[in-house]
Amino acid sequence: MPPLPRHLLPMTAAVGDGGRLSVGGVDLLDIAAEWGTPAFVYDEAHLRARCREAVDAFGDGVAYASKAFLCKAMAALAYEEGMHIDVSTGGELHVALAAGVPAERLVLHGNNKSEAELARALEVGVGRIIVDSFDEIDRLERMGAEAFVLLRVTPGIEAHTHEYVMTGQEDSKFGFSIASGAAARAVERVRTLPSIELLGLHAHIGSQVFLLHSFQKEVEVLAPFFAPLGLPELVIGGGLGVAYVVGEESPTIYEWSAAIREACTAAGVPAETRVTAEPGRSIVAAAAVTLYTVGTIKQLPGIRTYVAVDGGMSDNPRPVLYGSGYEAFLPRATDAERPKQATIVGKHCESGDVLVRDACLPDDLAVGDVLATPVTGAYGHSMASNYNKVTRPPVLFVRDGQVRPVVRRETLDDLLHLDV
Ligand code: LLP
Repeated sequence: MPPLPRHLLPMTAAVGDGGRLSVGGVDLLDIAAEWGTPAFVYDEAHLRARCREAVDAFGDGVAYASKAFLCKAMAALAYEEGMHIDVSTGGELHVALAAGVPAERLVLHGNNKSEAELARALEVGVGRIIVDSFDEIDRLERMGAEAFVLLRVTPGIEAHTHEYVMTGQEDSKFGFSIASGAAARAVERVRTLPSIELLGLHAHIGSQVFLLHSFQKEVEVLAPFFAPLGLPELVIGGGLGVAYVVGEESPTIYEWSAAIREACTAAGVPAETRVTAEPGRSIVAAAAVTLYTVGTIKQLPGIRTYVAVDGGMSDNPRPVLYGSGYEAFLPRATDAERPKQATIVGKHCESGDVLVRDACLPDDLAVGDVLATPVTGAYGHSMASNYNKVTRPPVLFVRDGQVRPVVRRETLDDLLHLDV
């Protein structure tokens, strides 16, 4: 297997003397030595570039889906670069507010928002609430506060992606179905409520979607329902896929927005409509690499080689949950050929704890090596756990030769904080 292709590395990745990789002007092996492993390392320039691309492509209103990766520094960065922020729980709302993001730049999602979550959102004045159910409309009516809302509708189409992250189909816990008439009833209902202003519709067909055609189909279904309502906003959700492994290629955010605009024009969405989106993964995934240290190498002749690292399913549960593929490389020899096949596993107490099933690595891989997995910036940190009481890694932003820790490493005492 050839060296890791550059397009899977963060934007500022550069190979220096002897093949050592730096990101943001900082040598990854120096980071591992100073900050320890495992660690999430994010290229701040890459994050900022993707946010700016989204704003440039979609215009004002495009929101960063913070579920993909959220901490105060990320919320502040997305806001500074002109994005709104999609928060889908009271917890994400709390972090975004704590980061200093003005409430009017926040969009609140959720298929089961509690009264407490709605009350906080209304009290601070979030910009938009995406209403998901008739029960939520009842709740908002009872609360009586003024709110700007969009209705989440299900367009009834199946995006080509993993079943667990497909959301646009009829059989879904999210939103109001257009086909059944529920969406039309919801529009009528909301329009009778004096304190609520209906701004538009929202839909989301799924995540890690590579085919622009899926989004165009979404627009084709939404447009005939949306256009006669005379509403100013249409949000087509997030979901743009990213390349994780050799051989995958994904559309850019510009290509995504161009395809959507074209489909909107063709399907009769009024030209003055604010058509926007909520990218998560495509903003953050490729911005980060995770650094691990190899602890054991177990060779089973004729079966496989296991390479165990000091993290695992607690910092990246995606391979276990979705069978997701990743690449791996050694930052000390970024451009080395990778002829050795191995399964990279973590340190958790189950066989399913696999990070990369069939990794390709350099032949001289050894215990003590720092090993990196690229494209680990989305849904790794945000879905991390303390399984086996493994402490969660720090998040380090790198830029212009500087390391900025934005989430510190968990300590053993942190593991006792909630015990009473
Ligand atoms: N908007 C809504 C309403 C969503 O539900 C999501 C993702 C997004 C936007 C952002 O989608 P993105 O651009 O990141 O694909 N844990 C899974 C992904 C679940 C996505 C859930 N919703 C994974 O690791 O692949």
